Amino acid sequence: MVTPMRVGHGHDTHRFGEERPLLIGGVEIPHPIGLVGHSDADVLFHAVTDALLGATGQGDIGEWFPDTDPAHKDQDSRELLADVVASVRKLGAEIVNIDCTIHAQRPKLSPHKPAIRESVARTLGIPADRVNIKAKTGEKVGPIGRSEAIVADAVVLVSMEGT
Ligand code: CDP
Ligand code: ZN
Repeated sequence: MVTPMRVGHGHDTHRFGEERPLLIGGVEIPHPIGLVGHSDADVLFHAVTDALLGATGQGDIGEWFPDTDPAHKDQDSRELLADVVASVRKLGAEIVNIDCTIHAQRPKLSPHKPAIRESVARTLGIPADRVNIKAKTGEKVGPIGRSEAIVADAVVLVSMEGT
């Protein structure tokens, strides 16, 4: 019998350019400039949300929360992710673990990784040891390396045993 597991992948990009807090995984990171976006532009929460939707075959974040909808203007992305976590639970699925990579030349994220890990784990309702946060620079090349944007990737494993 094959263990009923599902993998999901999420990817998101936001460019720098707005005077607002820089939020990564719900954690405010001190930086002179924030990210542009219709919601609060939390690039990591968006990637995690898409990974969960992918694992459970529920489409993508734009289908759930259209960025043309004024209701989602400046919205707290933790709330969007919490809605999707609730839908995953409703399907009887359980989040096994999640692995994330944040691509950013600046700011330096290593001091903030523990807080981001705790924040993501809390929002997913799983222990922090099932969440991993990695950071990479862009080696000073391309839009990441020139600090024009931040990109986040997330891979999640979901157990469907309860479904
Ligand atoms: O060494 P390698 O080229 O694989 O990675 P890097 O992009 O040079 O990043 C080296 C280290 O810096 C990693 O361990 C990251 O955790 C850390 N880093 C960081 O703290 N903040 C960033 N914005 C990017 C990377
Ligand atoms: Zn986004």
